[in-house]
Amino acid sequence: MKEELLHLFPEGAAVNAKGHLEIAGCDTVALAGEYGTPLYVLDESHIRNKCRQYVSEFTGRFADTRVAYASKACLNKAVARVIREEGLELDVVSGGELAIALSAGFPAARVYFHGNNKSPEEMRYAFENGVGYIVADNLMELELLQQLAVEFGYSPEVLIRVTPGVEAHTHQHITTGYTGSKFGLPLGDAAGAIKKARKLVNLKLVGLHCHLGSQINETRPYEEALGVLIDFSREVYDKEGFELKKLSIGGGFGVNYTLQDRALPVSVYADTIINTLTSACNRAGLSTPGLIIEPGRSIIGPAGVTLYRVGMIKEIQGLIKYVTVDGGMADNIRPALYDASYAAVAAGKMYEPASEKVTIAGKYCESGDILVKDVSLASVTMGDIVAIPVTGAYCLPMASNYNGAPKPAVVMVNCGGSRVICRREEYSDLVRLDVG
Ligand SMILES: Cc1ncc(COP(=O)(O)O)c(C=O)c1O
Repeated sequence: MKEELLHLFPEGAAVNAKGHLEIAGCDTVALAGEYGTPLYVLDESHIRNKCRQYVSEFTGRFADTRVAYASKACLNKAVARVIREEGLELDVVSGGELAIALSAGFPAARVYFHGNNKSPEEMRYAFENGVGYIVADNLMELELLQQLAVEFGYSPEVLIRVTPGVEAHTHQHITTGYTGSKFGLPLGDAAGAIKKARKLVNLKLVGLHCHLGSQINETRPYEEALGVLIDFSREVYDKEGFELKKLSIGGGFGVNYTLQDRALPVSVYADTIINTLTSACNRAGLSTPGLIIEPGRSIIGPAGVTLYRVGMIKEIQGLIKYVTVDGGMADNIRPALYDASYAAVAAGKMYEPASEKVTIAGKYCESGDILVKDVSLASVTMGDIVAIPVTGAYCLPMASNYNGAPKPAVVMVNCGGSRVICRREEYSDLVRLDVG
């Protein structure tokens, strides 16, 4: 195994005397034996350290920065508690994510409620529970917000989501800041929305929100978007007298999935965003608004590892060798959905040379159910454990029961200890909701 591959695993990943991969002091082969496979493993210290890094890198440069964890990346009670304890805020995009957060005791006042089609029921639920911020997507939503503000006698702070017309160089399915996106309003329409919101006297409009996309491994889109948003804010200040008090630039900060990726350190995003924001505001003669960032993937993605057990191995002579594992697209849809690339190691054979080029296939009934194409792996046999790093984000929340697959368990590891934070589904869970 190449030494550098360890850098894709959570901080402090190591190889023990048995030649097994260890995460947070836990032997991954032993974890697979104890909890079964497929198994999602989350390293608690890694998540906490990332939260602290975001807070210190951003607030160290600009004190009025709030870090809201984007819960769509991965949310369950244990993760919500860690985020709460680290003092972050939380971005949710549905009544369901809000319910998970509340069930973990996450303070609603620290929640941002996003979504391009929040239902009246979801909005009502947010108001009943005292959600602190709403990111309004469109004009219809503003009217609904006004009605609820009157009914409940209070208004959360409102940010209007806009599309600054900036293309982020990432997969088409995860770019969102371009004009014509289903999320938010183009600037021309946003000016009208601001005008309208200011007439709806019960609304507490405080600012703008934009999210450019995900897995963005460059700073240019943030610079461009901030320039556009601050110029726009100056225009609406002149025309409407609207003062931008808060600005969310969303999340999207990239991570290294493979040794070929070149993710940027948090400090580089922080430098660029803070410098661009403050200089653009100075130039425009505006006071610098409070900044909100919403990292998801970069907090929890690299904290996660998925463990699989090898099943059938099939070599098509001269063409391809499949190593099939006991999971696949039902627990990680990203390769099929976005052509996402991953690395992989044989967790029990870390000292053995990666002597074979194989394709790691899932067990589900789709030809696209391939987890990793053409990866160099130590020679494995049935029963061996394969570990795929950087699976903490957008795997579990996108998991399905396709082909009757029970969802895997999630284990949190820390300082040599492990505990189940979400139990594995059983066959009985597959019919739990059937009433016919
Ligand atoms: C509004 C918003 N904020 C934040 C995020 C988090 O992005 P990432 O996980 O890439 O940091 C997303 C992801 O889609 C989003 O839609």
